[in-house]
Amino acid sequence: MSTNPTLSADWYINSEIYAHERQSVFGDSWVHVGYDSDIPKIGDVLSESVAEVEIEVVRTQSGVLVASALLGLMNREVILVDSFRGMIFVALDTSNCSLIEWLDQFPTALVDLPLEKLVFHSRTIRRVKCNWKTYADNFLEGYHVPSVHPEMARDADASNYSVNLGDDRRWNVHVMPPRGDSVFGMFGWLYPTFAFNVVPGGWAVERWLPRGHNEIDLFFEYFFQSEAPDIDRIHAMNETVAEEDVRICEAVQRNLESGVYSEGLLSPKWEEPLLVFHDMIRELGEISGYAPTSK
Ligand SMILES: [Fe+2]
Repeated sequence: MSTNPTLSADWYINSEIYAHERQSVFGDSWVHVGYDSDIPKIGDVLSESVAEVEIEVVRTQSGVLVASALLGLMNREVILVDSFRGMIFVALDTSNCSLIEWLDQFPTALVDLPLEKLVFHSRTIRRVKCNWKTYADNFLEGYHVPSVHPEMARDADASNYSVNLGDDRRWNVHVMPPRGDSVFGMFGWLYPTFAFNVVPGGWAVERWLPRGHNEIDLFFEYFFQSEAPDIDRIHAMNETVAEEDVRICEAVQRNLESGVYSEGLLSPKWEEPLLVFHDMIRELGEISGYAPTSK
């Protein structure tokens, strides 16, 4: 056995593992579900499904957000909700720490971004036939950029793609040195399913929520400064990359389900963020006793 094995295929295709992860991952995290700008007025409601728990976030009279999980027509349970720099997160487990404690040092990754000056531009949602970790793997490794995203690789310097991994395994920042009028330059990820791409004059949030063990909804949400130039080009390039990622993730998922592949090896040099992510996921499974026995 190698010292750097990937998660075995079971982790991506077994519905029982996913059933456990609904609790161990999504039940035990603060999960991004939308924006203050989605529900600006008193009484506005944001509905979402967090690992198949239907939730609602309501802006109340005092402006404060209140969230609940819908457990039946007449039955709902209050859950935790808070917003950070315009982004709304919920926690299904009410014994969780506060959002700000949970984010810990992650806000330092956003400190240079003028999020408060950005205005919502548009949102695309794609149903993708892959496990939520298949998409996370895709986001976390830059290895595939030249082959899967030729336009992106021409745009910035993909050969000098680098990842800044800190002490906290739950987030990291990737930098691809920009060239001239590059669209792409910096990317970030926050466990479990939140990511972002910094673009000139704004940013695109890229996030995904599971809709079953082999399906996700992939959201791209674009925000720009009001005077930002080139918005159409930046939007179009990000959408191209999104389409390319959808195709590769669905192909990887089909391979995982084919039974041919069990587990591979990760390159410690090029795939360190994946190594860290897989370790974290494996540890959760081992602690909770649902990790598949690997050969
Ligand atoms: Fe990609």
